[in-house]
Amino acid sequence: MKVGTKELFEKAYNGKYAIGAFNINNMETTQAIVEAAYEEKAPLILQISRGTRSYAKHAYLMKLIEAALEMYDLPIAVHLDHGDSFELCKSCIDGGFTSVMIDGSHLPFEENINLVKQVVDYAHPRGVPVEAELGRLAGIEEHVNVSDRDAIYTNPKEAKEFVERSGCDSLAVAIGTSHGAYKFKSTPKLDFDRLAEIEKELPDYPLVLHGASSVLKEFVDLCNKYGGELPGAQGVPEEMIARAAKTGVCKVNIDTDLRLAMTAAIRQVFAEKPDEFDPRKYLGPARDAIKDMVKHKLHVLGCAGKA
Ligand code: G3H
Ligand code: 13P
Ligand code: ZN
Repeated sequence: MKVGTKELFEKAYNGKYAIGAFNINNMETTQAIVEAAYEEKAPLILQISRGTRSYAKHAYLMKLIEAALEMYDLPIAVHLDHGDSFELCKSCIDGGFTSVMIDGSHLPFEENINLVKQVVDYAHPRGVPVEAELGRLAGIEEHVNVSDRDAIYTNPKEAKEFVERSGCDSLAVAIGTSHGAYKFKSTPKLDFDRLAEIEKELPDYPLVLHGASSVLKEFVDLCNKYGGELPGAQGVPEEMIARAAKTGVCKVNIDTDLRLAMTAAIRQVFAEKPDEFDPRKYLGPARDAIKDMVKHKLHVLGCAGKA
């Protein structure tokens, strides 16, 4: 069943768990994520970035999701990840997405509010919730001083004002996570005090954690073993993700871990069977690797068994 994020978040907030928001790219990633969530009885957010929408095309992606909804009795939300314009959000809303993100985090505060409000004014009458972002995603080293950190991470008081004035339904916060496979140069650290303060300012309000992949060592090692070059790749330790899920974070975004699982499996087949050229023989193992990884993640997030 296609669902909105509002009802998923209400249950997640009260149950102190987070919903996994996994980026899809193609048929194999979609199948793997949906099957994992179905087998673990977990509510699911499938998210599509602007880049993926250009790569795979809206119609293909929606038909893939339609097939998943037909085959599996599972609550699935369809979300635009990092929308960068009103026009893109409108097109996704008109095209059947159940929620959208408008990312104005690079803009000055007032401009970010205005952009979010414009999307909210279009989305809400159509029953579509809107995610926004305040603060900049970045891993910050120990030596960075407090004022530099304050300039980058989400300010709790501003977060409250931002939500009230923009009308957004969930807020992505910056507390030390970042996108990609290189999140920390030294020991991983998130600003949990700040997260708790944001939650205090915005009680009963769903927060979102982007850049939340754990960059699992197993897949980095496999990539490197079979010809990859990912020296020093490091993600957010899973215990930190589990802690955030209990501190007001209702949606956890994961893409890099999917990419790594897929790439590791494909590299392994290519290295071990150089005579193999049937795409099903390497995309199949890639799909299996993603599925196993997602099943594990759903337990880390605490959403397994909550569908
Ligand atoms: O946050 C970014 C997601 O990983 C999507 O990445 O823009 O390369 O599709 P992308
Ligand atoms: P990762 O790069 O940590 O997987 O983050 C994905 C994300 O935030 C998508 O919006
Ligand atoms: Zn993101």
